[in-house]
Amino acid sequence: MKKFEIIFKETCTSTNDVAKELPVYTAVYAGRQTNGRGRMGRTWQDGQGNLMTSIVLPKPKQAHLFSFIASLSVAQSIAFLSPRIKWPNDILIEGKKVCGILLETHEDKLIIGIGVNIENHPQTGMLYKTTCLKEHGRTVEAKKLLSDILQNLSFMIECFEKKGFAPIRLEWLEFACGIGQPITVNLPNQSIEGIFSGINENGALILTTKNQTQFITAGDVFMIDGKKDE
Ligand code: BTN
Repeated sequence: MKKFEIIFKETCTSTNDVAKELPVYTAVYAGRQTNGRGRMGRTWQDGQGNLMTSIVLPKPKQAHLFSFIASLSVAQSIAFLSPRIKWPNDILIEGKKVCGILLETHEDKLIIGIGVNIENHPQTGMLYKTTCLKEHGRTVEAKKLLSDILQNLSFMIECFEKKGFAPIRLEWLEFACGIGQPITVNLPNQSIEGIFSGINENGALILTTKNQTQFITAGDVFMIDGKKDE
């Protein structure tokens, strides 16, 4: 099992920036983030009591698979609230986003940035509905949640190193939301509608449309049922 060193910063621009200067197997978490960033060039709002952390790993060959490894580690750490994972790595509770994950590479490192809304969540200006653990009657210290995530992540990495992506994929599918349901996938230049038919052995989203099956490697997913992201 990997052992991580944990560092705390009272305030920083983004823990992903701080992480660039840290050695592998270190995790940094912050009390405030002044320039938190999200996927697709979006911003990530901080909030007092929330977990904003970045975990530094050696850059693996298939870095994109760590979307699934990381999202599973978070989902397992808050399993008491029955979370679901929306492809590729958003964690939802009752259809609302509670955690986002941003993977970045820097030199020979993989940086896994994780934001979990524990005490607060943004009320406006979000593409998705949001929530926080507190809204569901549970709170946890950010540091305790981070150490649970690191423990699950260590276990997942070991499993991945020994057995490859297949068992991770199966477990991720257990947590996946919207399988068999109609979704819209927003790509940079178009939106495609189809049925979410799972993920393939490389983590690509399988979208079944009237005419064909498409394999999507990057995009934003929305459930089509009037209630977003359930
Ligand atoms: C997303 O869903 O768009 C990803 C959000 C990732 C947010 C976390 S908070 C800690 C780390 N530092 C950042 O600037 N972003 C990630």
